[in-house]
Amino acid sequence: MDRILILGATGNLGGLTSERLAGKGGVQLRLASSREAGRAALQERFPDAETVIADWYDAASLEAAMQGVTRVFVVTPDFMTDERVVTPNIIKAAKAAGSIAQIVRLIAIPPGLTESDLSQAFLDTRCGANLHVIAKPLLDASGLPVTYINVPGWIMFNLPWFLAPEVKANRRLAMPAITDANRMWISEGDIADVAATILVAPIADHIGKEHVLTAPARYDYPAIAVLLGEELGEDVAYADDDGPLRATMGEAFDALMTYFEHETQAYGGVTHNETVAALLGRPQETVRDYIKSNRQLFV
Ligand SMILES: NC(=O)c1ccc[n+]([C@@H]2O[C@H](COP(=O)([O-])OP(=O)(O)OC[C@H]3O[C@@H](n4cnc5c(N)ncnc54)[C@H](OP(=O)(O)O)[C@@H]3O)[C@@H](O)[C@H]2O)c1
Repeated sequence: MDRILILGATGNLGGLTSERLAGKGGVQLRLASSREAGRAALQERFPDAETVIADWYDAASLEAAMQGVTRVFVVTPDFMTDERVVTPNIIKAAKAAGSIAQIVRLIAIPPGLTESDLSQAFLDTRCGANLHVIAKPLLDASGLPVTYINVPGWIMFNLPWFLAPEVKANRRLAMPAITDANRMWISEGDIADVAATILVAPIADHIGKEHVLTAPARYDYPAIAVLLGEELGEDVAYADDDGPLRATMGEAFDALMTYFEHETQAYGGVTHNETVAALLGRPQETVRDYIKSNRQLFV
């Protein structure tokens, strides 16, 4: 029996991956939150799972959470994570457990980008690649059995997170024009399916691999507005306006704007591959599919 620990199980990707894994034969889920309220919510959502409190700034709690665990999935949040503390703590706890056969780590790094390519201002945003270029070399050097899921594009949950409310209220896709780029979009459902697939596959199949998840098409904001308009049957206008983003992001707005200076440039050279479809044995979800199946978010 594999015991799979999800660090970040209350989050978007960790939660969806837990859903994919719940009830799978041969898997005992251990779901972690750093907060008692998070742990309780996980226990209610996943009654058959073990739930634990594990704070990756508290080495002892991580070591306890990893006891008896064979595989770990790690997703760290943007803006707040200090990877120079968190990743060494995770490595130390995994080594102390002695039972870890696979660590699956979510990253978002344009292939080839390293910490030395990034200014301190970008690294200080603790967002996207600015987190992961610190975590990955530490994991690479750890000697632990690691599999990376690399998502060097936008995850479709950005639509409900900071774009949908203004579409719903005013039929506007409002984002500052300086943050626009032709981006690949990958759905959170596909990422969770990939993570779950890897976490139940024979361990040797994915150790040492970096799976780069991409999309066959790129969209800028006006193109997303067109797609939304077509699917909603009403015009959706792109608007160069930072108001809705500022309202959603609150204190993180300035860091996000700095992050965009790097992100709008750094991901342009990522080329498409068929990894998502190959791993899942089905076509990947498109932005149009996502808008169709989440129509209620926009109307
Ligand atoms: N947005 C995009 O387009 C995009 C694209 C590519 C990659 N990404 C990457 O996706 C990741 C974010 O994924 P997500 O949205 O699924 O994350 P999320 O929803 O923000 O979840 C983060 C998780 O971290 C946990 N956490 C926070 N502090 C913790 C602590 N001290 N100890 C242990 N756990 C802690 C949280 O749980 P508790 O609070 O319950 O402890 C939560 O479950 C980031 O690394 C980002 O760079 C994003």
